[in-house]
Amino acid sequence: MDPEVKLNHIAGNFLKLRGNTLITPISKGLINDTYLIQNEHIKTKYVLQKINQNVFREPEKVMKNLVRIVDHLAKKPDPRYKLLKLEKTIVSGTYYLDEQQDYWRVFRYLDHTDTIDKVTDPIQAREAARAYGNFIKRLNRLNPGEVFETIKNFHNYRDRIVKLEKAAAENSSQRKKNCLNELDFIGNRIKYIEEYYSLPLPKRIIHSDTKIDNILFDDQLEKAVCVIDLDIAMPGSLLYDYGDMVRSFTNRVKEDEGDMSKIGINQEVFYNLTQGFIEETAILMKNAETNNLLLGAKIVILIQAIRNLTDYLFGDVYYKINYETHNLVRARNQITLLSCIEKDEKIYENIINSIVEKNT
Ligand SMILES: Nc1ncnc2c1ncn2[C@@H]1O[C@H](COP(=O)(O)OP(=O)(O)OP(=O)(O)O)[C@@H](O)[C@H]1O
Ligand SMILES: [Mg+2]
Repeated sequence: MDPEVKLNHIAGNFLKLRGNTLITPISKGLINDTYLIQNEHIKTKYVLQKINQNVFREPEKVMKNLVRIVDHLAKKPDPRYKLLKLEKTIVSGTYYLDEQQDYWRVFRYLDHTDTIDKVTDPIQAREAARAYGNFIKRLNRLNPGEVFETIKNFHNYRDRIVKLEKAAAENSSQRKKNCLNELDFIGNRIKYIEEYYSLPLPKRIIHSDTKIDNILFDDQLEKAVCVIDLDIAMPGSLLYDYGDMVRSFTNRVKEDEGDMSKIGINQEVFYNLTQGFIEETAILMKNAETNNLLLGAKIVILIQAIRNLTDYLFGDVYYKINYETHNLVRARNQITLLSCIEKDEKIYENIINSIVEKNT
């Protein structure tokens, strides 16, 4: 079937389409295939998305989680944020399964919004962190046992170490020789992961992918309007969502910058994101959480370095590369970022503590 005809047919399973329909790719996401649907007779625009089954082996679980989460959020809306709305199919299903066994779903398009790839203003960090904190807070009453793990072992950090050890043990090539220092650095920080598992951390439903581009901002890129991309929202610790913001918002350069001397933490961004997150979550955080936020950042950065290095040793099967040492450079980048945090640990702890004090 002609791709355009096919997309129209799929959209027609969700919406009563008459006249002209324009379906155009939104190429911002990396995982799923996303399209914008516009019809001449319908005022609202829609987002059509095909679930990537290479990443999500159990799409039914992804959809069940999504419905549970959006329904729960809709029960108690927060006037500051818009709700993500899922459209039912004409036969009242939540997804459409095509002949190729692909899963499709449709969201209401939130107009007058935009996303950003990199934090350019500390206020954006505060806004995004507040929205992610609000997401955790509003899901607090939804039982984490009712939400599936949509990627197996995603939050099993010991398993990440096992995979790296396996990759290193099976590899005797030049690649392993190239990363002996990095393996050593990581080996000396397994203690963070052990410390994490020794804490009495509550299981919560967390977003698990708190990058800046999973926030829809208003047209002016000032206010966070909606948290999107809920496919790996699953049970985990709030430290992870906080840590992934520190990891992805504060780095002065891109995650694959090869000049390690350029890597550094933007402290103003750190301050603002911590402020936004704690403002929303202070009310529910336990001591084990408030006292260990920085450990969350260290863990998430360490895990990212482990994932990049594992992929480098396994021959670049997961992350796309543009040159041979791309994954090694990414791992070094994260290692350098972690060293920056360690070097000024006291400063970051003080920032966190002062904000916690003000909010409790
Ligand atoms: N409800 C919506 N309203 C407006 N735009 C949206 C909506 N949902 C998604 N988008 C747009 O589509 C893009 C991709 O969506 P999404 O983040 O869900 O895809 P993804 O492939 O899972 O992304 P990632 O690479 O982060 O995993 C977003 O960056 C945003 O620009
Ligand atoms: Mg996304």
